Amino acid sequence: MRQLLFFSNNKNKIIEIKKIFNKFNLELISLNDLNLSAEVEESGKSFEENAKIKSDYGFNKTGFPCFADDSGICIESLGWKPGVLSKRFLNNFKNNQACFERIFKVIKKNNKQNAYFKTSISLTIKNNQNVIFNGKIDGRISEQARGRFGFGYDPIFIPKNYNKTLAELSTKEKNEISHRSIAVTKLINFLIN
Ligand code: IMP
Repeated sequence: MRQLLFFSNNKNKIIEIKKIFNKFNLELISLNDLNLSAEVEESGKSFEENAKIKSDYGFNKTGFPCFADDSGICIESLGWKPGVLSKRFLNNFKNNQACFERIFKVIKKNNKQNAYFKTSISLTIKNNQNVIFNGKIDGRISEQARGRFGFGYDPIFIPKNYNKTLAELSTKEKNEISHRSIAVTKLINFLIN
């Protein structure tokens, strides 16, 4: 069985991706299995750059083929930010609702509702050899936060051709259309072919 290291400390992501990998006879090794932590500075200006920084680091540290992901939301009204700073932007407010209120306010002012989520996965196979897989989901920001599923910006993001927010969709429904699942599917297709 082929072994790959997933450079992440996020337990939920590891469980989710492990399940998919097992179906394809690929063995996922996590940082935890190797007693390593994902402490590396994400100093890149794009999702691709940050994913590459992490997958290169994991490969150089362990010698295992290694992949890492980086994702976030880009909002037209905010000049397509916060992007790579999505987590930090949310954490700057006292709670998620306060962050959402700020976003709604800016959108009311300039009337641009478009947004997208993007995930980049970088797979490092050899020294200085990496491949990037991108996933994107287009949509718009809702007028108010709705739904109790998911995490992060899910309650304010309505995918294109839907009228529910991602937080109103079940995990299964979200996984069928999400930026992350698109990128993971591309990675798997690359690995099994
Ligand atoms: P990460 O790179 O996957 O850890 O994502 C960085 C940040 O982007 C998260 O902390 C969330 O705030 C936001 N984000 C990424 N993916 C999603 C998603 O599927 N739903 C909601 N927020 C997300």
